[in-house]
Amino acid sequence: MSNFTLNGKPVTVDADPSTPVLWALRDNLGLTGTKFGCGLAQCGACTVHLNGQAVRSCSLPISAAAGATITTIEGLASDNVGKAVTEAWVAQDVAQCGYCQSGQIMSATALLKTNKKPTDAQIDAAMAGNVCRCGTYPRIRAAIKQAAAALA
Ligand code: FES
Ligand code: FES
Repeated sequence: MSNFTLNGKPVTVDADPSTPVLWALRDNLGLTGTKFGCGLAQCGACTVHLNGQAVRSCSLPISAAAGATITTIEGLASDNVGKAVTEAWVAQDVAQCGYCQSGQIMSATALLKTNKKPTDAQIDAAMAGNVCRCGTYPRIRAAIKQAAAALA
């Protein structure tokens, strides 16, 4: 049993403490916006925010989330930075197949919460853990810049 705050609401997950947060979100809580890619903290498809930090939910046991605040892609609509990032993503038509994109948006949102005007190098460093096999990186960078400008 693990209790945490998910997208602003308290939740309880009845699962083994070693269960990755990714599977608690998808299987126990029905939030399927967070994706499974590698399961090894290598691709970023499963990125969520844990107390505001971008983390890989495939490698985070629910025992480590006890008492924490988790935000998923489903919770970004009520966040001004998340909303600006999502709108910029749509305006730049970033997604190709789309599979990596919720993780990309979560990492981009975490970046803009701590750095309001990131340089190309800072964007590349912050997004390095999010792999896109469709190669949408130039549009990701453009969308982050657009969101930063919209929030300025
Ligand atoms: S599925 Fe978590 S990093 Fe790849
Ligand atoms: S849009 Fe296809 S993997 Fe990123």
